[in-house]
Amino acid sequence: MLSILSRLLVAGLAIGLAAFPATAQTDYPRRPITLIVPFAAGGPTDVIARIAADHMTRTLGQPIVIENIVGAGGTTASTRAARAAPDGYTIEMGHMGTHAASVALYPNLAYKPDVDFAPIGLVAGTPVLILGKKDFPPKDLKEFVAYVKANVDKLNMAHAGVGSVSFTTCLLLNSILGIKPTSIPFNGTGPALTALISGQVDYMCDQIVNIVQQVQAGQIKAYAVGTAERNPALPHVPTSKEAGLPAFQAQAWNALFAPKGTPQPVLDKLSDALDKALDDEGTRKRLLELGSVLPDKSGRGQQPLAALVKSEIDRWTPVIKAAGPLN
Ligand code: MLT
Repeated sequence: MLSILSRLLVAGLAIGLAAFPATAQTDYPRRPITLIVPFAAGGPTDVIARIAADHMTRTLGQPIVIENIVGAGGTTASTRAARAAPDGYTIEMGHMGTHAASVALYPNLAYKPDVDFAPIGLVAGTPVLILGKKDFPPKDLKEFVAYVKANVDKLNMAHAGVGSVSFTTCLLLNSILGIKPTSIPFNGTGPALTALISGQVDYMCDQIVNIVQQVQAGQIKAYAVGTAERNPALPHVPTSKEAGLPAFQAQAWNALFAPKGTPQPVLDKLSDALDKALDDEGTRKRLLELGSVLPDKSGRGQQPLAALVKSEIDRWTPVIKAAGPLN
């Protein structure tokens, strides 16, 4: 059995190498790289992708072109990315939703996040906040809990589609509170935030990088952040524990992935370019100002991301199962 497996492995490697001659690996990249973003432009995943791409382009010497592909909570784009040619010219900015929570949310998911992708590296951790529209009556989280429980039939909750971070983390919130509000899907939390600011929807959960400025400007309310520590970008926002809902622990993450079979030298070049971006003062400043949590050296690269994907699938699957049927 082992000899058959090792022979299959060697054959697979030979095909990969044959399909991607050594010269193409060494002088990679020779043309622009497409970075698939599974949500609408202007949202957290798009913003993080553009900041990382800005610096990676300098290291790789080729443009990184962002392609926003929306739908099905990001799984449409992730399916496209998993099936792309494993040549390093198509990569994806995936996240906790597309590459972990979606496994339990989509029984027939067309890809396996921990099998069909080659990890490049974690870009940023993104704490998740509980948010309300500007004139939402509750002043703090305690009032929020009482209010949404008492008025659930009248409330609309926004999210970026089944499988997204905003959907999954508010699924956790709603299951803690034992409620199922009407949920309104958008192509990303960029457009969902616009609906929250204009009061079309009442509340949502979102990654900090998308909402820092709007909270600081008082355009929306932030009730709590789902992390153990307060976030330096929004120091006045209490942790869920401080605010009385310690069970709401929600930190998302965004990371770069390539299709399985992408040659190792190409993956190493991409991981190296990401590492240099995360070392760059300007790139760090832009990400930190938005409340991102940046991985230290030991948390960067291919192996730590592979381990994170597995542990996050294990983390969110029971949460999703416990929440019961989605509708
Ligand atoms: C986005 O970029 O719109 C978000 O990552 C969507 C989400 O997962 O909530």
